[in-house]
Amino acid sequence: MLWIKTIPEMRDLVARWRKNGESVGLVPTMGFFHQGHLALMKKARQENEEVVVSLFVNPTQFGPGEDFEQYPRNRERDEKLAEEAGVDVVFNPAAVEMYDREFQTFVDLTELPQGLCGAARPGHFRGVATVVTKLFNIVQPERAYFGEKDAQQLRVIKRMAVDLNIPVDIRAVPTVREEDGLAMSSRNTYLSPEERQAALVLSKSLFFAKAQVETGERNSERLKEKMKELITGEPLVSLEYLEIRASDTLRPVSIIAEEVLIALAARAGKTRLIDNITINPEGRR
Ligand code: PAJ
Repeated sequence: MLWIKTIPEMRDLVARWRKNGESVGLVPTMGFFHQGHLALMKKARQENEEVVVSLFVNPTQFGPGEDFEQYPRNRERDEKLAEEAGVDVVFNPAAVEMYDREFQTFVDLTELPQGLCGAARPGHFRGVATVVTKLFNIVQPERAYFGEKDAQQLRVIKRMAVDLNIPVDIRAVPTVREEDGLAMSSRNTYLSPEERQAALVLSKSLFFAKAQVETGERNSERLKEKMKELITGEPLVSLEYLEIRASDTLRPVSIIAEEVLIALAARAGKTRLIDNITINPEGRR
């Protein structure tokens, strides 16, 4: 497995692959790998001749006072895990390699970044869309892999690729959870044992919502109230948002008659966690 730090080196390798007609899959990450990242890598491994994992803690998607400086890093462990997952190249540029001092071009979407995580993190999706566009231009993958865990991000990237005519197939991978239901996240490492236990109420509330819809609940407001009751019963957890949206457009829905995304963000202690579930009423697919 190669570990590449510069854009020219990455480009040279991609040019050689393309000349040989090899397909390329890209898995964008910020490192500190867990089973969620590995699921994306494994899917990429199955579907492409060459697999690139980008490992870049992207400064433009962190707001002031967020955890950019503290974001967990462990090169040795990441290198081992990526190698075991059959990755061909880890692309790990320095911040100055991606953003030179004169950098001034950003990719911004008008609607999808509003609300949900975009409300509490202004500029976050602009940073994500910009860095992912840059990665697409550097690596030119046929396919790129994103987790459903970051539901709004996935929709932003899909829309952006269509809107900007980027010839990449965006592949979605289901959320990988711990056995007890907690969605895997690099940020789970910040949780104390008590906070980790308390955080289980989030996935529980989503599974509860699914069961509610399956037994006939169709009213968004009522369902949200029932979920909030469950979550507020956990004193170590404070809810930032809980929303029921149309799964594709992320527009609010008052009656659950189509596939919906139920998404939430909350703090367990100081740690911000997100989770979501997609629900089909009438078991439609
Ligand atoms: P990061 O948080 O490292 O996540 C990298 C990818 O792993 C994302 O597509 C994310 O949705 C996916 N992922 C994270 N946890 C997951 C889980 N439990 N199950 C399945 N997939 C999971 O998301 C980012 O980095 C950045 O915003 C990035 C896209 C790299 C742009 O900087």
